[in-house]
Amino acid sequence: EQVDWQPDETGKGQYDHFMLKEIHTQPTSLRKTIEGRVDLDSGSTDLDIESDLSEVETVHLVGCGTSYHAALFAACLLNRCGLSARAIRASEYDLTAGTPSNNTLFVAVTQSGETADTLSALRRANDVGLDTLAVTNVVQSTVAREADEPLYIRAGPEIGVAATKTFSSQAAMLTLLSQHLARVNQYASRVNNIEALLSDLTDLPDAVEGVLQSSNATRLAEKYLDENAYFFIGRGLGCSVAKEGALKFKEITYEHAEGFASGELKHGPLALVTDRTPVFAVCADDSSKTVTNAKEAQTRGAPIIAVSTSDHSIVDTADDHLSIPDMHPVCSNLLANVQLQLLSYYCATELGRAIDKPRNLAKSVTVE
Ligand code: G6P
Repeated sequence: EQVDWQPDETGKGQYDHFMLKEIHTQPTSLRKTIEGRVDLDSGSTDLDIESDLSEVETVHLVGCGTSYHAALFAACLLNRCGLSARAIRASEYDLTAGTPSNNTLFVAVTQSGETADTLSALRRANDVGLDTLAVTNVVQSTVAREADEPLYIRAGPEIGVAATKTFSSQAAMLTLLSQHLARVNQYASRVNNIEALLSDLTDLPDAVEGVLQSSNATRLAEKYLDENAYFFIGRGLGCSVAKEGALKFKEITYEHAEGFASGELKHGPLALVTDRTPVFAVCADDSSKTVTNAKEAQTRGAPIIAVSTSDHSIVDTADDHLSIPDMHPVCSNLLANVQLQLLSYYCATELGRAIDKPRNLAKSVTVE
């Protein structure tokens, strides 16, 4: 596949930072990710995958940083299709993957296609003879070349060190891959509402546009600036969004931030909760328990910021609200992530941080 990057994609344009530009480019980049890959009439995907994935029993999704969070998102979806799927941090692959069976599909998730940990895990998977796919942004990158097949996310160049549009595109691409597997794989169960999912996925770029236009993240960034720590909680797909929200926040604001499964709050982090630790609760999916968990933090004085639809029950108790439209959970969680991207960006600008090149971090890490 040829993916052309236009020269005008590499400037900052009207934006102060590449990161803000890349956040705002998401409607376009998502359209490119999805283009030609969804057939709404037949309710199926068209991914042009040559590998026979009908016998795959287990899926290992492997990546680092933001790409690992996209892997977590996809593992959750694949499990819902009845397949056994695990997201594994690439740096932990050799120690925690065990001895993968022959019918394990290895999916490398990497924006750059050059991350050393991910490449090393891919080489191990190739050595033991697994089927391997690469979900990547960079055509002919090392990972793209060494995997059996690349699946390009077509997000265009991403200059900001903190990944934004590529997370959305990775998650969208992996969603399509999960639906492909659900169709062709003998062990997977067909997802009940695949038509609704694919139709909402096609509408996602417009919905992102809507969130970008209406977000009140600037105001919340000013209000919650310079607190002691920031917690992000969510369940299922929302857990990967919470983790990604916290990663983005710490990367560019240099504030302490943690993202974890809502249910874990009471198993330790609650000891850190005070009135100076805002808790962002991602309630885009199966979230009634997250409401209970958020209330536990609120009782200890923490401000609760709900990331949810306007009619969600958490809005009644939350101190503040980042609103998302009501769509299929895949889409509403990705929209929640867009709100959290904006929040991180505006907090970091208020704090005068080096948004596009945060201290100590590199866009692509080529050492293990
Ligand atoms: C670095 C970057 C992160 C990125 C990670 C994985 O740590 O700072 O933003 O998520 O590498 O990069 P990859 O290119 O493999 O997605």
